[in-house]
Amino acid sequence: MLAIRLVGGPERPDALALPIRPAGVAEDGAARAVLLPGLPALADDVLAEAAALVPAARATGRAGEAHVHLRPGRVPARLLLVGAGDGDEAGWRAAGAALARAASGETHLTIMMPVDAEPDAVRGLVEGLLLASYRFRLTEAGEAPALSGVDVAVGDPAAYADAVERAEVTARMTRLARDLTNTPSSVKNPQWFAEQVEAAAAGRPGLRLRVRQPDELAAEGFGGILAVGGGSASGPRLVELDWHPADARTHVVLVGKGITFDTGGISIKPVPAMKLMRKDMAGAAAVVAATLGAAALRLPVRITTLTPLAENAVSGSAFRPGDVITHYGGVTSETTNSDAEGRLVLADALAYAVAELKPDLLIDLATLTGANMVALGKRTGALYSDNDDLAADVLAAIDAAGESAWRMPLPADYVEYLGSDVADLYSAPNQGGGSVLAALYLREFTGDLRQRWLHVDMSAPSWADGDAAELTRGATGWGVRGLLRWLATLG
Ligand code: BES
Ligand code: MN
Ligand code: ZN
Repeated sequence: MLAIRLVGGPERPDALALPIRPAGVAEDGAARAVLLPGLPALADDVLAEAAALVPAARATGRAGEAHVHLRPGRVPARLLLVGAGDGDEAGWRAAGAALARAASGETHLTIMMPVDAEPDAVRGLVEGLLLASYRFRLTEAGEAPALSGVDVAVGDPAAYADAVERAEVTARMTRLARDLTNTPSSVKNPQWFAEQVEAAAAGRPGLRLRVRQPDELAAEGFGGILAVGGGSASGPRLVELDWHPADARTHVVLVGKGITFDTGGISIKPVPAMKLMRKDMAGAAAVVAATLGAAALRLPVRITTLTPLAENAVSGSAFRPGDVITHYGGVTSETTNSDAEGRLVLADALAYAVAELKPDLLIDLATLTGANMVALGKRTGALYSDNDDLAADVLAAIDAAGESAWRMPLPADYVEYLGSDVADLYSAPNQGGGSVLAALYLREFTGDLRQRWLHVDMSAPSWADGDAAELTRGATGWGVRGLLRWLATLG
């Protein structure tokens, strides 16, 4: 990860970035920009030179715009003008991401901040830098990005230390979730995922970990996890990670879908739909990373994270369409489509949380249905809750963190589709909105926490087809940023 340093002034300005912002429209109708007011004076009148470059570059100041100017033989040798837009956290996040790309050929970059910059500006800038410079590689082959260090020049470094720490923890955990999700399923089976959690949690006081093996799952009745995991040579696991600080007043349970590969099972997926199904544990990755982040920041809230882990494989021991499975706690599901596997493992984990952990709030994240993207496009999760305050709080945190979700209804007129002739519930109705029905199915397992439960279908935003602002091609780590923001408001 890029090394970020807060400095009082530029120390080695071989490459120097200066922020700009929009400044109305020129007489010819073109958008204009100006250097941000409040930048400290620089040697050799560099500020005056940069001010003259802004119109020459036809800069608009839009968030995420970047221009590079070469100054051969002089110091700094390169000046970068970067748009911070409105100067809110989102604008600075876009600026940081743009700089990570525009300066990827530098080994070192210095960014000048206005003397009166808000801590949130620095937070956004640092998150953008650290998230956009992410790369996933399994080998050392190919070129690594040169940029390894960034100095952020602020008047008073101590005033921004907290903002930088929050940004660094958030970015490091988002990058961990991306790593876990990008990893191929030849490596990533349930046991491997559990080992990664163990390694990441090791040595942090206040964190406890329990990993249930298949025989323990059987002894306790986790029938959904066992059914879905039964077709794979790599058996299922249930990871329970607990952050329990002494000063916690609220207890949150986070549940994340952890299908390490989803073939669809006997109801096998066609080739194009199966291509990216190594990402089907992105919910598990997000809740684990958010919990580790909460521990790193020592947030005063108890968090128990449950990740039911299974590979949905095709084999002679795979569960069949039409099988009736018994979930944790005894509710039964008729399963006519083995590709609706996520809700089966989540049902066990939710029922267990309600019966045994009895938290104040229950949240689950899952790459649950392709219908998420049909309804809301590529970047937006589908959020469900019967609790208006909880939904508003979580949506606000997701938005502030730079992620996107949209609240969806849990309509009463769909509940009848969950009825089965032979079991308590039917897991895969083929009528009605797919993402909505999956949410209604999960709600059946929330017991007396029904009004304290929230679910996000994050199939769509868990993956990016290409680089875009702070996102990089591949896994996005969606959910880590929003959850961490929200957790930081509890206590
Ligand atoms: N893992 C998939 C959902 C998914 C699809 C995630 C595309 C990311 C991108 C899930 O297990 C699934 O297969 N859902 C089915 C549900 C259906 C069988 C009721 C779907 O969406 O088609
Ligand atoms: Mn599936
Ligand atoms: Zn799935």
